[in-house]
Amino acid sequence: MKLKEYGLTAGEVKELVGKYMIETYERYNFVCERAEGMYLYDEKGTAYLDFYGGIAVNSAGNCNPKVVAAVRDQVGEVIHTFNYPYTLPQALLAKKICTTLGFDKIFYQNSGTEANEAMIKMARKYGVEKYGPNKYHIITAKSGFHGRTYGAMSATGQPDNACQIGFKPVVPGFTYAEYNNLEAFREQVTDDTIGIMIEPIQGEGGVVPATEEFMRGLRKLCDEKHILLMFDEVQTGWCRTGDIMAFMHYGIKPDLLTMAKAMGGGMPISAVVTSDEIAKSFTMGSHGTTYGGNAVCCAASLAQITELLDRDLAGNAKKVGAYLMEKLRTMPHVKEVRGRGLMIGIVYDGPVGLKVKHGCFDNKMLVTLIGDNVIRLIPPLIATKEDCDKAYEIMKKVSEEI
Ligand SMILES: Cc1ncc(COP(=O)(O)O)c(C=O)c1O
Repeated sequence: MKLKEYGLTAGEVKELVGKYMIETYERYNFVCERAEGMYLYDEKGTAYLDFYGGIAVNSAGNCNPKVVAAVRDQVGEVIHTFNYPYTLPQALLAKKICTTLGFDKIFYQNSGTEANEAMIKMARKYGVEKYGPNKYHIITAKSGFHGRTYGAMSATGQPDNACQIGFKPVVPGFTYAEYNNLEAFREQVTDDTIGIMIEPIQGEGGVVPATEEFMRGLRKLCDEKHILLMFDEVQTGWCRTGDIMAFMHYGIKPDLLTMAKAMGGGMPISAVVTSDEIAKSFTMGSHGTTYGGNAVCCAASLAQITELLDRDLAGNAKKVGAYLMEKLRTMPHVKEVRGRGLMIGIVYDGPVGLKVKHGCFDNKMLVTLIGDNVIRLIPPLIATKEDCDKAYEIMKKVSEEI
């Protein structure tokens, strides 16, 4: 849909949104009419350099041609069936994901938060059926983020964040331990604990990577106590961090893992993967979804994942991410640059984040802000060194001006 066809200006579109939509987002001040590769375009053709990737979604590039073709092909055949008939896109995608990642079984959902709901439900059902009715306690990390539905929100260890204020009481059965502090997690394990749920790099928490010692320690702790290690790779998954999945960096494997965002290349699809044994807890009728496993989303996801793997975009993320991080460290007012691959957090030495974000926008570059001092870069993984040079020049200029 184009503004021109409807005889509307960008200002009129903003007015319609303001009048009719419930707004919970800090918007970039433009109407996106087209997106391609590393750029978003407004109705006048102004290009914005994309260093947020639809929040780590458009990893094979905006409107990747293979994803577009897969959607176009599938949409004319079968859009939606519910999960009664078998469909080919579901079956091929399941095989691709399970064999690539080394898991036995997959369950499809539609969003990151729903994938986490499914993971929490699966772990709890497995726990109470195997060990008894109280075995449902899950430890998660302080400053983590797992989503905005009640279970995932309750797993989110950020009681003072706007995404939790006013929504109490949360779902019981979660406790929160300090990230990267193995002893803090160990202290919270009780006879009722069934799992530890964690992001390998805390995304919304400010791009904070888990240490190798912590992650390997968690695996050992879970093995010792016979509890489940549950990874939320909604943001880190599918090549973002320089590995296909972030867990691979640590040489360990979780018992359950969720994915979303980059998995669908812009189409709403997510999933939880696990072993045959744990998957058995999801029996007929125990869990379900109208749209999860939708044929168009599965076809898009298969094309997206094939692109990410065949073009080794994990390798590219590792290479250009390291290159960009080194450069960013030389900018003024920067206290720390952290992350892995193309998941980068720039920590400023004061609450200047909004100024930097707006400064980048004025220079036609799109970034995201976490808190008041962390700028997060999560661009499409097709970013070249030249794209990174361009991003760095803009950010350097903006940082010098604050
Ligand atoms: C680690 C993590 N988990 C879960 C979610 C929730 O995903 P969604 O917004 O698709 O529900 C997010 C979203 O940013 C996330 O970063």
